[in-house]
Amino acid sequence: MLSLEEVEVAIQGAKILRGVTLRVPEGGRIGLVGRNGAGKTTTFRAIMGLLPLERGGILFDGASLARWPAHRRVALGIGYAPEDRRLFPNLTVEENLRLPAEALGLAPAERQRRLERVWDLLPELRELRDRRAGALSGGQGKIAALGRALVTGTRLLLLDEPFQGLAPALARRYGEILARLVARERGLALLVSESNPELVAPFVDAVVTIERGEIAAVTRKPGL
Ligand SMILES: Nc1ncnc2c1ncn2[C@@H]1O[C@H](COP(=O)(O)OP(=O)(O)OP(=O)(O)O)[C@@H](O)[C@H]1O
Ligand SMILES: [Mg+2]
Repeated sequence: MLSLEEVEVAIQGAKILRGVTLRVPEGGRIGLVGRNGAGKTTTFRAIMGLLPLERGGILFDGASLARWPAHRRVALGIGYAPEDRRLFPNLTVEENLRLPAEALGLAPAERQRRLERVWDLLPELRELRDRRAGALSGGQGKIAALGRALVTGTRLLLLDEPFQGLAPALARRYGEILARLVARERGLALLVSESNPELVAPFVDAVVTIERGEIAAVTRKPGL
């Protein structure tokens, strides 16, 4: 469904991604694991069209994403939760979720359907729907950011270090929520980055290791 082919990205003249080739099949769950500065966020930003490619290509359903500007890529069914959450603090959780549906120009019935799907998948978020995003705890904010990504992410979810900053108990809880989510939505593909492979192992099919902007290893079914 998503494939990066020999992607090269440079930032201010410095080569950051060096020939990254990465495939996420339909319904596939891939962990993108690497230490600080390895190029995880750069990979996500390239997929979303927020950084230009120097070389290589990114395909979605076999067609190049190059002709889609960043704001149109979510319309393909892609949801992106950046590493900093970027919720609007003065809006409620529900308002934060409604925004991307409105930005997509969806009909009211479809917007409502998308919202119901998120409440259904994340019942703990439904409880918080009227809470101001600025009043959420760190863990609740992570779940809200996941919910917002699900509004547009009907086919592919891109989660950049969702566990970062969570205390161990909350990270475990968040991992359970993700495991439940992928079990319920079999067709949903997932690319999730982390520095610690153990955190993503329970719900991914493969771990792709990135080091200094290069894919260093692909491990299928970790732990098996
Ligand atoms: N705006 C920028 N200007 C200059 N260098 C940048 C910029 N953004 C990223 N880089 C560099 O690109 C490299 C990859 O950064 P990237 O943010 O993709 O790593 P990451 O794997 O997401 O790391 P982290 O775990 O810290 O989030 C790093 O060496 C970083 O210093
Ligand atoms: Mg990052």
